[in-house]
Amino acid sequence: MMLKTTSEIDIVRVEKSKINEVDFENIAFGNVFTDHMLVCDFKEGKWGKPTIKPYEPFMIDPSAKVFHYGQAIFEGMKAYRDENDGIWLFRPDQNLERFNKSAVRMAMPEITEDIFIGGLKAIVELEREWVKRGPGNTLYIRPFMIAIGSGVIAQPSTQYRFMIILSPARAYYSGDVKVIIAEHYSRAANGGIGAAKAAGNYSSQFYPQKLAQEKGFQQIIWTDDATHTKLEEAGTMNVFFRINDTICTAPTSERILDGVTRKSLIALAKREGIQVEERPVLVEELVKGAKDGSLKEIFGAGTAAVVSPIVGFQYQENYYELPKQENSFALQLKDKLTKIQYKEAEDTFGWTVKI
Ligand code: COI
Repeated sequence: MMLKTTSEIDIVRVEKSKINEVDFENIAFGNVFTDHMLVCDFKEGKWGKPTIKPYEPFMIDPSAKVFHYGQAIFEGMKAYRDENDGIWLFRPDQNLERFNKSAVRMAMPEITEDIFIGGLKAIVELEREWVKRGPGNTLYIRPFMIAIGSGVIAQPSTQYRFMIILSPARAYYSGDVKVIIAEHYSRAANGGIGAAKAAGNYSSQFYPQKLAQEKGFQQIIWTDDATHTKLEEAGTMNVFFRINDTICTAPTSERILDGVTRKSLIALAKREGIQVEERPVLVEELVKGAKDGSLKEIFGAGTAAVVSPIVGFQYQENYYELPKQENSFALQLKDKLTKIQYKEAEDTFGWTVKI
């Protein structure tokens, strides 16, 4: 896929790269950042010229709206290295589209394709040595926008900063993922910001997540806020349920993030002849399926997490462990997806974009 970019970008390079100080084999998700970052400011109603410069802290006014009202959005993407040292992005047009939907919902200015896609290409090209070859190695890309205008009046800022930072990454979860089904707390509500990739959507999960982690669960499967009977999302991931040989997942809505991995897995599953149902999935179906054996798999899907099998779930007082599947749909789909991302399989969908 070709995407149009024309934006000019100023580049200030670091004097010495820190790449040789990084232990790429033992890297915790999201802790190490590359040498450079992209910065582009919005003021007086328009975006300025993007600059790529050394990664470093920066100053903003303590009254900036991002600190007080959380006016902030982000995206999660990855770059992959193929065996011929080509560097690839996966469906960046989808991230741009979602970023701008999030921007509109948070009363922030939309970003241009030139700045978003052109900026991505330029910074990933500059940092290409950080995209390591081999299974599981990726460069996680975090585009984000924050409200930097000062003043604690509770109104949208007039000044914003768009940035891209990059972090070499392997797996998001280490070890088995067990989940708890939400019965009290909610991630999102109709009319809220659940479909936006807004910072507050994630921080509002930290407290219930902490309670879940204290009980030995890595994640919560969120249910609808009104009745807590429909299974919706797993916080950092969309969530799929394999009931017999059908994969079921909640339809996207105002409460659910329109995940790029989610929609890619649905397309791949359909191509492989696996039946997919996008429909409300009920907690009671899950419990019944765990009891009668028709619930074969649960898995999460997201950019950071890729496809993460879930080994069991807690609902009310009971924990249900899922039996190991010989022929796991989660692992088959993960394999198909990552082969496309690393250019080991033909990309018949036109999802991959060369840097
Ligand atoms: C991603 O999967 O890229 C996300 O944005 C989730 C994040 C919380 C790591």
